[in-house]
Amino acid sequence: GEKWVLMKTAQTPTNIAVIKYWGKRDETLILPVNDSISVTLDPAHLCTTTTVAVSPAFQQDRMWLNGKEMSLSGGRYQNCLREIRKRAREVEDKEKGIKIEKKDWEKLHLHIASYNNFPTAAGLASSAAGFACLVFALAKLMNVEEDESQLSAIARQGSGSACRSLFGGFVKWIMGKEEDGSDSLAVQLVDEKHWDDLFIIIAVVSSRQKETSSTSGMRESVETSLLLQHRAKEVVPKRTLKMEEAIKNRDFASFAKITCADSNQFHAVCLDTSPPIFYMNDTSHRIISHVEKWNRSEESPQVAYTFDAGPNAVLIAQNRKAAAQLLQRLLFSFPPKSDTDLDSYIIGDKTILKDAGLEGMKDVEALS
Ligand code: PMV
Repeated sequence: GEKWVLMKTAQTPTNIAVIKYWGKRDETLILPVNDSISVTLDPAHLCTTTTVAVSPAFQQDRMWLNGKEMSLSGGRYQNCLREIRKRAREVEDKEKGIKIEKKDWEKLHLHIASYNNFPTAAGLASSAAGFACLVFALAKLMNVEEDESQLSAIARQGSGSACRSLFGGFVKWIMGKEEDGSDSLAVQLVDEKHWDDLFIIIAVVSSRQKETSSTSGMRESVETSLLLQHRAKEVVPKRTLKMEEAIKNRDFASFAKITCADSNQFHAVCLDTSPPIFYMNDTSHRIISHVEKWNRSEESPQVAYTFDAGPNAVLIAQNRKAAAQLLQRLLFSFPPKSDTDLDSYIIGDKTILKDAGLEGMKDVEALS
């Protein structure tokens, strides 16, 4: 038979929610109970790189994550693959003499190789970047016409938060109204150039206890938390508007206030769940207190904090100066591998280390 292989590669950063998604109204289609807003990291930072290949020589769909083969049999992968295959179009590579007709895509098998540029074990969400990258790479390979928002509705079926990683900058996941999920998709609020003086530092707090997965955590919260109902109906709709306003105006004081409040309410919902879910630990709480105290001692907030389904702190500094100062404070008050259970810090840009007079620090990993 024919021995050709056709490949495409894509790179997708992870995103950090500043208005959290927590709770599904439909578990199969992954439809949320509220809108959410996130900031997409710089592509050079925490990201997934995925290469997808198609060849008549492939016997079945297969996938490798960081070099290790993993199963594609899960419903979420199957849903993404099915939805993207449905939209596949004719592909022609004249140089290689390859022509794939629309109908051929049903029979052809795929090989998928995906890498994260950050340690999966660090407990940093990788599913967001992973599914977004998979869907985007497949769309390129299969010459899919759909735009990023339409692709986001497919990535959403892999992992909810993934739909927000199809765009850079600040992104809103609109919960939508339709039962089939066709209007539950991501839109870009502003691009990455709009507010480019923000700096993100991640404090990797290792968790000894086994975490509750976001899927089962959300299910338990939806079933048992009254606070979740209140949050979805009364709080998030207003908060989302205020957040959009803050982002548009690059109003860091409002941005920080809303980001911190929303993270805290998400973790309050977890505590309001029966049995209660604890994602943050003592170190997370101490980092919150430290940032709150610092922000109050300044004329206006310097740093926002936010925590996902784990104890790691994502700290968003207003600018380069605040980021350098934050790094100094963190390393002084929360030195890694001391009596705190903190492992390391991750920063995007290594020049922050220089600014802070901390060049060569081993416990700080600079991604670019
Ligand atoms: O998409 P998931 O299942 O990884 O859920 C993500 C949930 C949070 O990270 C806690 C919040 C969010 O909006 O990203």
